[in-house]
Amino acid sequence: MAGIKIRLLLTVSFFLSIANANRTVFIDPNDAWQVIEGWGTSLCWWANVFGGFPDVRNQVADLVFDLNKGLGLNIIRYNIGGGDNPSHHHMRIGADVPGFWPSIIIGPLMQIKNAAKERGADIFEAFSNSPPYWMTNSGCSSGGQNFSDNLNFNYDDLHADYLTEVVKWYKEQGLIFRTLDPVNEPTVRHWSDYGSQEGCSYSCDPLSNIIKKVAAYLDKKNLSENTTISIADESTIDQEISTIGCIGNDPELHISQYNTHTYWGTQRTQLYDISKQNGKRLWMSEVGFSSSKDMSSSLQLSEEILNDMRNLKPVAWVYWQAIEHAPNGTYGNDYGLVGADFSNSTTPLDIRLSFYGFAQYTKFIRPGYQIISSNDNDTLAAYDADNKTLVLVCTNNNNMSDIWNIDVFKFNISSFIAFRTSNNNETLTLLPNIWNITDGILTYLCPAYSITTWVFFYYSVDRL
Ligand SMILES: *[C@@H]1O[C@H](CO)[C@@H](O)[C@H](O)[C@H]1NC(C)=O
Ligand SMILES: *[C@@H]1O[C@H](CO)[C@@H](O)[C@H](O)[C@H]1NC(C)=O
Ligand SMILES: *[C@@H]1O[C@H](CO)[C@@H](O)[C@H](O)[C@H]1NC(C)=O
Ligand SMILES: *[C@@H]1O[C@H](CO)[C@@H](O)[C@H](O)[C@H]1NC(C)=O
Ligand SMILES: *[C@@H]1O[C@H](CO)[C@@H](O)[C@H](O)[C@H]1NC(C)=O
Ligand SMILES: *[C@@H]1O[C@H](CO)[C@@H](O)[C@H](O)[C@H]1NC(C)=O
Ligand SMILES: *[C@@H]1O[C@H](CO)[C@@H](O)[C@H](O)[C@H]1NC(C)=O
Ligand SMILES: *[C@@H]1O[C@H](CO)[C@@H](O)[C@H](O)[C@H]1NC(C)=O
Ligand SMILES: *[C@@H]1O[C@H](CO)[C@@H](O)[C@H](O)[C@H]1NC(C)=O
Ligand SMILES: *[C@@H]1O[C@H](CO)[C@@H](O)[C@H](O)[C@H]1NC(C)=O
Ligand SMILES: *[C@@H]1O[C@H](CO)[C@@H](O)[C@H](O)[C@H]1NC(C)=O
Ligand SMILES: *[C@@H]1O[C@H](CO)[C@@H](O)[C@H](O)[C@H]1NC(C)=O
Repeated sequence: MAGIKIRLLLTVSFFLSIANANRTVFIDPNDAWQVIEGWGTSLCWWANVFGGFPDVRNQVADLVFDLNKGLGLNIIRYNIGGGDNPSHHHMRIGADVPGFWPSIIIGPLMQIKNAAKERGADIFEAFSNSPPYWMTNSGCSSGGQNFSDNLNFNYDDLHADYLTEVVKWYKEQGLIFRTLDPVNEPTVRHWSDYGSQEGCSYSCDPLSNIIKKVAAYLDKKNLSENTTISIADESTIDQEISTIGCIGNDPELHISQYNTHTYWGTQRTQLYDISKQNGKRLWMSEVGFSSSKDMSSSLQLSEEILNDMRNLKPVAWVYWQAIEHAPNGTYGNDYGLVGADFSNSTTPLDIRLSFYGFAQYTKFIRPGYQIISSNDNDTLAAYDADNKTLVLVCTNNNNMSDIWNIDVFKFNISSFIAFRTSNNNETLTLLPNIWNITDGILTYLCPAYSITTWVFFYYSVDRL
């Protein structure tokens, strides 16, 4: 008896001394949220570079789009370049995206798009950062003088014609863009001439006019039954709400989807409510985090996914550039999940912890999964009723370990596995099979600064 008592005391003091918190998470299959249609990335600078590197194109496509060899992203946001004045030389490496005027070119971006499709990508959106330079007021595709509106309105028809012509050409090649967003971060005044990437500002009235024109050209070219419009890819959630209000919801605009970036802003539940009311699909279409050598970038990414998925409830979550230029193994100046040298295809890729942090979600919560309630903000639960699989991703963003009491009482579990990414050399590492579920509760001592994915296989679910 004495021996047992001592062991119990040791166990308790062990937990007290190292655990930050004792958390209980109840997973409720009767409280269903959104159904996920996928995870994605934008094809901009990285695709413009790696599409032109035939020696490593397949390797990077595997990392980003293949489910077994990489993240398994199935959503592509394809950048319809405007093209800058050929005499200008101010774009960052990779950002000199060519335009499609006067003729459609089979460029590097298209190569990556094809490689993505071969690996299972199945949802395609087109978007534009800037009209071709010669349609602009400043004569430069990175923006207007002093951040002013930059489309020359003598070209508003030609601009709509240009964007829809690219959509039409792709349709003829067998690729349908389900949505087209004619603008990117239109009202935040980020875009000035001689900048480092394409961009174009619009005030509210011209913006509404652009959407109207593009919708009319989709109709005119018989494209609108397959391709509708998404708006407005604002950089902040709160700005997205005002821009939606400004553009309105006239059916002739063919708006099917709201895209918001989540770099700033707080009104996640409000935007969700607006999308519900107006009957639009909602995407988190862009965000990115400064790279780090340790877990901090991964944890930021995870906290954003949690905040977005739990409060904004988008059906898709799209990272900005999966791969970025970070020569010489540098960190902090780029958003890449993978660091690369854009000027040298033979430099080894730097697969960061944030790549594995993202993979903790993308490889397990697959298209068709139903997100369900889990009553702790640092968790995301989803299940697939056909395959009888329940997934729970838990994030410990504290500097000490947490005890998680995971309540899966509503599920009759047959078996489970877990994967973890942490500072402790774990990169989506399969954990040893040492846990038991007792009375529907799995107790897990979760290390500091880590992300864990539990995959439970079940016989049945108690939906009442
Ligand atoms: C943690 O909380 C659960 C539920 O409240 C409780 O049963 C358990 O004893 C606690 N564990 C520790 C180590 O505090
Ligand atoms: C640029 O725009 C800002 C804000 O409208 C204005 O205050 C400033 O004077 C402008 N600068 C130039 C050089 O036009
Ligand atoms: C429009 O597209 C539909 C289906 O893709 C096709 O059946 C129809 O003939 C097209 N109409 C014109 C005018 O091209
Ligand atoms: C395009 O629209 C037509 C008519 O609604 C539909 O039959 C077809 O399946 C659509 N194609 C795709 C790929 O969505
Ligand atoms: C990377 O290292 C090379 C060789 O040392 C150097 O020439 C180059 O300037 C470095 N690039 C950056 C961006 O630091
Ligand atoms: C490209 O990278 C490889 C591998 O790191 C290196 O050997 C080579 O010198 C680099 N080439 C240039 C031009 O920097
Ligand atoms: C269910 O499993 C089948 C076979 O492994 C797979 O093809 C399908 O995509 C899975 N469904 C989901 C929603 O993951
Ligand atoms: C968890 O989310 C709820 C609902 O959004 C919020 O009220 C609460 O403050 C959040 N708690 C933490 C610790 O972030
Ligand atoms: C953890 O963070 C708290 C609050 O910032 C701090 O007081 C504590 O010293 C930290 N502990 C460790 C082990 O770093
Ligand atoms: C769980 O499912 C198994 C297999 O169908 C069954 O034998 C067992 O009785 C079920 N347990 C509960 C608690 O329903
Ligand atoms: C991670 O692995 C490297 C190489 O095996 C080793 O040098 C390092 O000490 C390990 N770090 C931790 C925190 O285990
Ligand atoms: C799980 O159950 C096995 C067999 O009863 C036991 O040996 C093991 O210690 C248990 N693991 C935990 C973490 O409680």
